Amino acid sequence: MAKNVIRKNDDMNLDEVYRQLRTNIEFSQMDETLRSINVLSTNPNEGKSSVSLNLAKIFADKYQKVLLIDCDLRNPSLNKFLRVSNSKGLTNLLTHYQKGDLIQEQDELKIIDFGNNTQLYFLSTGSKVPNPTEVISSRRFSTFINEAKKQFDAVIVDCPPVFAVADGIPISHVVDGTLFVLSAKDTDKYDAREAVQDLQRNGANLIGVVMTKVPGFRSKHYYGYGYGKYGGYGDSND
Ligand SMILES: Nc1ncnc2c1ncn2[C@@H]1O[C@H](COP(=O)(O)OP(=O)(O)OP(=O)(O)O)[C@@H](O)[C@H]1O
Ligand SMILES: [Mg+2]
Repeated sequence: MAKNVIRKNDDMNLDEVYRQLRTNIEFSQMDETLRSINVLSTNPNEGKSSVSLNLAKIFADKYQKVLLIDCDLRNPSLNKFLRVSNSKGLTNLLTHYQKGDLIQEQDELKIIDFGNNTQLYFLSTGSKVPNPTEVISSRRFSTFINEAKKQFDAVIVDCPPVFAVADGIPISHVVDGTLFVLSAKDTDKYDAREAVQDLQRNGANLIGVVMTKVPGFRSKHYYGYGYGKYGGYGDSND
């Protein structure tokens, strides 16, 4: 029985898996539209950034205006996955952003063109700051996310791991729902339970779980190389 399930997974196209996840998210709350989602996990390396990017890409296949934000200010990675510059990004934008400003007009925003009319708006972390948690907990950050929810069809926020820093909690408060990533290979179930309970105690709206690194599922696990409209990987701030 289990063997059949694995074989089926093997044959599955990754797009199909993420399309199903997108549908599940779209239908997860019938009365409210989930417009913004953050992606969290217990520890580093469990697949949050890969899930964020794949999910953003599949939302961008369907919706015109999808924004992916890298909020892992201490350990940015999406700019590397997408091979775009991180010389300007979220932290720079937050120094001047005012309620009502059009996000699409901000210099810090990048457009990732995947072809086939699929475009993704991307905000990398930006210049390193000495106080990431303060930045993420600031009123300006929540104003920005609230504006993003109004101005985009979907907003996906990649976060640092729960056990490393507390940043995921204030982010969970400003988004509509939280997706929790478990790695079949790495995640300790007791640690994961503690992390989930921590999030729930702090008022996160957990909408579901994504399992990564499942044995037998061999596929490319993230998209996108070098589609950035603006400049190179070399000057990334990492
Ligand atoms: N579904 C998957 N199956 C197999 N390997 C994966 C999968 N998703 C991610 N990986 C691999 O796991 C590693 C970590 O992935 P990723 O950067 O997405 O994790 P992360 O949770 O964002 O890590 P960090 O906490 O350091 O930001 C990468 O080498 C990536 O290629
Ligand atoms: Mg990451």
